[in-house]
Amino acid sequence: MSVITNTTSSATVSQVPPHGGRLAQRLLEGADARALLARAAKLPRITLDARGASDAELIATGALSPLEGFIGRADYDSILTNLRLSAQSGGHLFSLPITLSVAPEVAATLREGQEAALVHEGEIVGVIDVRELYALDRPREAELVYRTTDLAHPGVKHILSRGDEIGVAGPITLGARTIARRFPDHHRDPAEVRALLAQRGWRRTVAFQTRNPIHRAHEHLLRSALETVDGLAVHPLVGETKDDDVPADVRVRAYEVLLERYFPKDRVLLTVFPFAMRYAGPREAILHAIARQNYGFSHFIVGRDHAGVGTYYGTYDAQKIFDEVRPGELAIVPIFFEHSFYCNACAQVASFKTCPHDKAQHLVLSGTKVREKLARGEGLPIEFTRPEVAAILGEAYAAQAARRAANGGSHVEA
Ligand code: ADX
Repeated sequence: MSVITNTTSSATVSQVPPHGGRLAQRLLEGADARALLARAAKLPRITLDARGASDAELIATGALSPLEGFIGRADYDSILTNLRLSAQSGGHLFSLPITLSVAPEVAATLREGQEAALVHEGEIVGVIDVRELYALDRPREAELVYRTTDLAHPGVKHILSRGDEIGVAGPITLGARTIARRFPDHHRDPAEVRALLAQRGWRRTVAFQTRNPIHRAHEHLLRSALETVDGLAVHPLVGETKDDDVPADVRVRAYEVLLERYFPKDRVLLTVFPFAMRYAGPREAILHAIARQNYGFSHFIVGRDHAGVGTYYGTYDAQKIFDEVRPGELAIVPIFFEHSFYCNACAQVASFKTCPHDKAQHLVLSGTKVREKLARGEGLPIEFTRPEVAAILGEAYAAQAARRAANGGSHVEA
C-alpha cells in the first residue's frame, strides 16, 4: 500500500519538526485509494458527522500528528489526567481527546481486531482498523478538559449530548478527502504549507489562530509578532463553530480584504485551519499550537482568553497552561500578548503592558455593542475595525438579520 508522502523541497530549509517527529500520512491516492474504498464496501459502517469528518482528514494529512487514528482508552485517560498521550503512544504532549464514538447499536456491529468502513455524507471515505471499543467518561472529560460540566458551554454540550456512545479506537486510512474545499485558494494540507514556507524562504513564521473577524486589537498582535519573524500566517479556524460566531465565509472575505489593503503580500500567508472549534480555552490553546507546529510554523500567538467562551476561563489561563509544557516537548514557540485595545491618549492600539493611561481613554467594544451598532446600520469606529472589514460585517449582518427575521435563523456576531 502506498501512502502519499508529499516529499517536498521543504527538507532543504530547516523547519520545525512535526510533533512527535513525523507527519502522519494516512491518505491514499489513485488505484490504492480505489482498492481501499472497494474493499471497505463489505465492512460494517461508521458514519462520521461533520466534526468526525474534519478530525479524520486532519489526522490523515498530519495536522494532528502524532495521531494516526482515533485515540483509545489509555490515551484518553492519559490526555485527561496527564495532558499527554500514554507511554505506549510515546507520551507526547497532547491536550484534547480526539475520539470517535458511535451509538451502542453500531458498536454491536464492530469487532476489535477487524476493520470498519468510515462513511461521510453517504459515501465510503476510508477504513478504521478497530483496535478497541471502550467506554468514554464524558462528565469526567468535561470536568478535566473543559473545567466545567455546564451544558451552556458549547464544547461541553457537544460531548455530553453524546453521553451513551462507545469509543472506537484505531488507525485510519482514507481513500477520499472528507473536508469540503470551501476556500480552495486558501486550503492547504500541512505538507503543502511546509513546502510553501520553504519556497518563500521563511525560517521563522508566526501563526495566528482566529475564529473572529480581525479587529484592530488583533491586528496589533499580528504586526507586533511579524516584526520579529520572517512571515505571518493568518490561520483562521474554519471548521464547525457555534451558531453565533461570524460564519467562515464572511470572515474569509474580511481577512482577504484586510491582508490585501494593509499588509505586504510577500510577508503574509492566508491559509485555513479546518478544525472544529471546541472552545476548550487553555487545553485548546495547546492543541492549536501542536497543530500549527505540524503545519511548519515556528511561533504561535496566544492572546487573552484564547479559544475561550463566556467566563469559563481566566483571561490568561490559556497562556499559563504552557507552564506545564516541559522543555523540549514543543518545537513551536508560543508568543503571549496582553489584552489589547485602542487608547485615545496613546492614539494607537496598546495594552496594559504598554499604556499608562486611565481606562476611560480605552475603547473597548463588547460583542453586544458591536452587534447593536451593526443592527442600526452604523459603521464601526475606525479605531476598532478597518472600514473595509466593518463594511463586510455590516453587509453580512444586514443580510443575515433579514433572513433571521424571515425564518428565525442564526445571527452574525461581530
Ligand atoms: S479564538 O477563539 O480564536 O481564540 P479570537 O479569534 O477572538 O478567538 O482570538 C484570536 C487570538 O487573538 C487569540 O490568541 C486571542 O487570545 C487573541 N485576542 C483576541 N482579542 C484580543 C485582544 N483584545 N487582546 C489580546 N489578544 C486578543
